[in-house]
Amino acid sequence: MSVLVTGGAGFIGSHTCVELLNSGYDVVVADNLCNSKPDVMDRIALICGKKPVFYQIDVCDCEALRCIFQQHQIDAVIHFAGLKAVGESCGIPLRYYRNNLDSTLSLLECMQEFGCKKIVFSSSATVYGPSNPSPYTEDMPVNTATNPYGWTKVFIEQILRDTAAADADFSAINLRYFNPIGAHESGLIGDDPDGIPNNLMPYIVRVAAGQLEKLTIFGDDYPTADGSCVRDYIHVVDLAKGHLKALEYANMNRGVEAFNLGTGNGSSVFELVEAFENANNLTVNRVIGARRDGDLPAVWADTQKAKEKLNWSAEKTVQEMCADSWNFVKKK
Ligand code: NAD
Ligand code: UFG
Repeated sequence: MSVLVTGGAGFIGSHTCVELLNSGYDVVVADNLCNSKPDVMDRIALICGKKPVFYQIDVCDCEALRCIFQQHQIDAVIHFAGLKAVGESCGIPLRYYRNNLDSTLSLLECMQEFGCKKIVFSSSATVYGPSNPSPYTEDMPVNTATNPYGWTKVFIEQILRDTAAADADFSAINLRYFNPIGAHESGLIGDDPDGIPNNLMPYIVRVAAGQLEKLTIFGDDYPTADGSCVRDYIHVVDLAKGHLKALEYANMNRGVEAFNLGTGNGSSVFELVEAFENANNLTVNRVIGARRDGDLPAVWADTQKAKEKLNWSAEKTVQEMCADSWNFVKKK
């Protein structure tokens, strides 16, 4: 079976390519490298002994996509390509809407033209918006967002529901990720953002590596046990494996389904920093700062549906996530 992986050079996409190749899928990657590096394909090959077929294209570009579908019999698509920085999306919303929506529309049109009927989409827990209480269940309303990035996820989920409603043979899975961290155990691929990281784990590892002076913990006065925000951190390899289960599900079923990919357990910012220190036997300089605009106090997943219908649940511990995140940075 041949799978087109858009955004396959990125953090989650590269780990999913590894799992796909190791399970015998043929993998074709389409990525414009706007947030990733070309050597990722070689690193995947070092891990798996096989390399995905790679096309450096913009997924918004219908003609370039068409060439891929002409050259390969694509059976299913996993759609990771997108811009993902919440804060940046507030400053350049049109770029986010253009990139994330256009790439999805081009892809769906091309899939339609070539009779490809299965897609797994990278959605986000952000679609649950600010009003639903944790733990989030897939049947909660997902019709609001607090930033342009989040709106692109809400809109794309709707586009997929509409596409499936119009074609009884179409199958779409909206995977709502919680907070992916960690890296492949080889240390060859991981989260490697350009510039100063926005997300907590990439920031922690750079402080630990001495590349940044100190971590600012955004608020210690939230209504949580220790006052810092709680998130559901999930190892990226567990997350990647969830995509293979979703593909199998899309093969067997028609219509649209959403699944949470999280562990079902929350960790506070303080807890994650301490887990990182303990796992790696080092100290992370930190200070308490003001709350960051838009942060919710506590976000974690109800994981029952993925367990029951996908036969998937996360296995790796926070300890392993912290050790693997650091291993990747040490090896770079
Ligand atoms: P990433 O930035 O590492 O990977 C995305 C990849 O898509 C990059 O390699 C980038 O070059 C590519 N890309 C972007 N726009 C493209 C375009 N128009 N054409 C071709 N390639 C393009 O991000 P990630 O963390 O691996 O996230 C993957 C997906 O998962 C994204 O859609 C993101 O919104 C979603 N997601 C991520 C998180 C997270 O915390 N990492 C959480 C929820 C959802
Ligand atoms: N945090 C800090 N200091 C930092 C960075 C983060 O204290 O330097 C805190 C944040 O306030 C938050 C927690 O660490 O409480 C996690 O923050 P991240 O930025 O790592 O992750 P978010 O939960 O804010 O956002 C992530 C993804 C989004 C996605 C969202 C919901 O980055 O793409 O989860 O799933 F939309």
